Amino acid sequence: MKIKNVGVLGCGLMGAGIAEVCAKAGYKTIVREVSEDLLEKGMGRIRSSLEKAVTKGKLTDKDCEAALGRLSGAVELDDLAECDLVIEAIVEDVEAKRKTFGNLDRVVKDKAIFASNTSSLTITQLAVTTSRPDRFVGLHFFNPVPVMKLVEVVNTLLTADSTVAQARSFVESLGKHPVDCKDNSGFIVNRLLIPYLLDAIRFYEEGGGTLEDIDGAMKLGCGYPMGPFTLLDFVGLDTTYYIANIMFEEYREKRFAPPPLLKQMVTAGRLGRKSGRGFYRYDR
Ligand code: CAA
Ligand code: NAD
Repeated sequence: MKIKNVGVLGCGLMGAGIAEVCAKAGYKTIVREVSEDLLEKGMGRIRSSLEKAVTKGKLTDKDCEAALGRLSGAVELDDLAECDLVIEAIVEDVEAKRKTFGNLDRVVKDKAIFASNTSSLTITQLAVTTSRPDRFVGLHFFNPVPVMKLVEVVNTLLTADSTVAQARSFVESLGKHPVDCKDNSGFIVNRLLIPYLLDAIRFYEEGGGTLEDIDGAMKLGCGYPMGPFTLLDFVGLDTTYYIANIMFEEYREKRFAPPPLLKQMVTAGRLGRKSGRGFYRYDR
């Protein structure tokens, strides 16, 4: 089956980026949110990102219009019935994802492939909620999606080889680089990145340095594009907290445990860039 129509679930930070790159690459793309308000907000995010690309001379006006023409929004799952591939990018919560995939399975055509952009859940526990675990993969994109080249392609014991091959060629058609991963919580990147980010919070709590000094040191000393606190705010402290809990539950190792400060910040509504304040303040 040739992939022509792509569905994206969730139009937040990641879903908007995934829908944007799919539409830009020529796929008819439909993105689903839970309410009209959130859909409008997400679609606005995609439009402004495409317009910025035009202003920067990375995209022509014509290609921008064509991408927007291929893009539509939905609040009903039924509207995704004819998709060949559905990529889920909703909140990092196992029950929300399992429930969504169970419902999706009932409305989307049998031949379609399902993919999850989860950061830390194992794909197997999502795949088994559907009647098509052989056509279920992890497609883990990175933030910001229009810029980051990597997509982790996660196969489970139940994924068919043909599904992995299709998923890899889909990733390549987006101009991105697929890397095969086993179905371990955190795959490759988050298995290594999350303990580093959590350790930076612990180090800060211990008085190891100011936010600015720790960030500056990791940027200038290691050549990282962002220090750990800038990156935490960028990813979202809520998402990081959910990821840490899931990975700690899976591995029972202290390095994955969410530090108390992270929990407090999420409880206080300091979620990073998305809420205007995390470790740093942002103009919104
Ligand atoms: N959308 C589209 N393009 C964007 C963008 C966005 N949201 N943000 C930045 N860019 C583009 C800019 O337009 C610019 O392009 P040009 O060079 O062609 O002009 C380029 O990216 C560089 O941007 P800036 O000069 O504004 O800023 P920068 O040099 O600091 O780069 C960055 C921004 C690419 C985000 C860089 O800081 C970076 O790579 N940061 C680290 C990101 C990272 O580690 N991501 C992974 C997070 S973990 C994850 O995603 C997995 C998970 O499960 C949690
Ligand atoms: P986000 O909070 O920005 O967006 C999630 C969106 O999903 C929200 O707008 C919410 O309204 C919507 N949503 C919730 N339930 C839904 C449903 N049933 N159907 C449709 N939409 C629904 O979160 P995010 O940062 O975009 O993360 C989304 C997923 O991507 C998570 O699994 C996360 O772990 C993963 N991820 C995040 C990053 C990152 O840097 N933030 C990177 C890679 C992967």
